[in-house]
Amino acid sequence: MEKVKTIKDVDLGGKRVFVRVDFNVPVEDGGVITDNTRINAAIPTIRHLVEQGAKVILASHLGRPKGERKPELTLAPVAAELSKLIGMPVQFVEDSIGDDVATAINGLGEGSILLLENMRYYNEETKNDPEFSKKLAENVDAFVNDAFGTAHRAHASTAGIADYVESKVAGLLIEKELEYLGDKTANPEKPFTVILGGAKVSDKITVIDALLDKCDTMIIGGAMAYTFALALGKKVGDSLSEPDKIETAKSAIEKAGKLGVKLLLPVDNLITNSIDFDNKALGETKVVEGDIPDGWEGVDIGPKTTAIFEDVVRNSKSVLWNGPMGIFEIKESAVGTFAVAKAIAESDVISIIGGGDSVKAVKKSGYSDSVSFMSTGGGASLEFLEGKELPGVAVLDKA
Ligand code: 3PG
Repeated sequence: MEKVKTIKDVDLGGKRVFVRVDFNVPVEDGGVITDNTRINAAIPTIRHLVEQGAKVILASHLGRPKGERKPELTLAPVAAELSKLIGMPVQFVEDSIGDDVATAINGLGEGSILLLENMRYYNEETKNDPEFSKKLAENVDAFVNDAFGTAHRAHASTAGIADYVESKVAGLLIEKELEYLGDKTANPEKPFTVILGGAKVSDKITVIDALLDKCDTMIIGGAMAYTFALALGKKVGDSLSEPDKIETAKSAIEKAGKLGVKLLLPVDNLITNSIDFDNKALGETKVVEGDIPDGWEGVDIGPKTTAIFEDVVRNSKSVLWNGPMGIFEIKESAVGTFAVAKAIAESDVISIIGGGDSVKAVKKSGYSDSVSFMSTGGGASLEFLEGKELPGVAVLDKA
């Protein structure tokens, strides 16, 4: 992907700057934000603009209200949280376009911050409606996109607005995401290990294919590994698997062989005869090597596998990880995932955690401070790693 301009390349002092951020954070009843990572991740850009004397107009979506003004999806609590984190007032306006927004923008002093209401209260946002994009651009001089988590969506506030604003540049978060998921993954320090997990091969087919071209070792864990086990003629009992993706798994095994990439699958698994997701508990458990009997399902990698995977991590120079090794929400089957997190954290490697569940798992493991980079994107990171162009980046000025 061509390099894009960032806020460091332009002077936005005194300008009215529309900044698309991804404040799609978990909010509980009563407006309690349970994870403010994405708010924190946007602060360097906001601070940079404030210090330049820009008039900062923040825009985001929250959840999927589908054009309805759902009160539980208001961004009001986010304004309060941001204000607390950044240590300065954040004005909030209960709309995304219209007179109230225009008045609020016109009243902004240099270096002050305004947060608009949830963009998705308007269906025009997700439809990337040109009239809506034009309205968003009406009172602004520049567009900054820093919403990496939403950069795979061609929506009005992530892409459409760029048609109506002269200067459009990336924020510091997008710059960092592109550096780690892009440059550092495309030209990694070798040996480069990719660890993929999660439930489905179907979610990761393109990413497996794209990353096999770049890595020295690919580790497959999580439920995805059971589809690979089927491809190798093994039995997986009642484990989550996708028999219709066996051919895909076979092609990946073949491709790895041709490219000389080591493709590692679990040699043992923790299995159980029942899972109680509500109470976060497993029934009987045991570790097996080879076939998994009927009536039992795999829920984590076993200790031998864990030791092999840890060793590979320790001997790597860079590691990209996307997808947990087992059901990490349950303590007994979180062991493999947390061990991998620990090995990554304690090794001298460039470690890139590719978003979504793996980020949750690393946070839960307590090792998040020891990894090089954790992506704020879920779907966006995957699409970017697959080599797809992100609409929210494609619209920005080229460097
Ligand atoms: C995310 O949480 O992955 C982003 O904010 C995008 O949200 P969406 O999947 O609702 O577009």
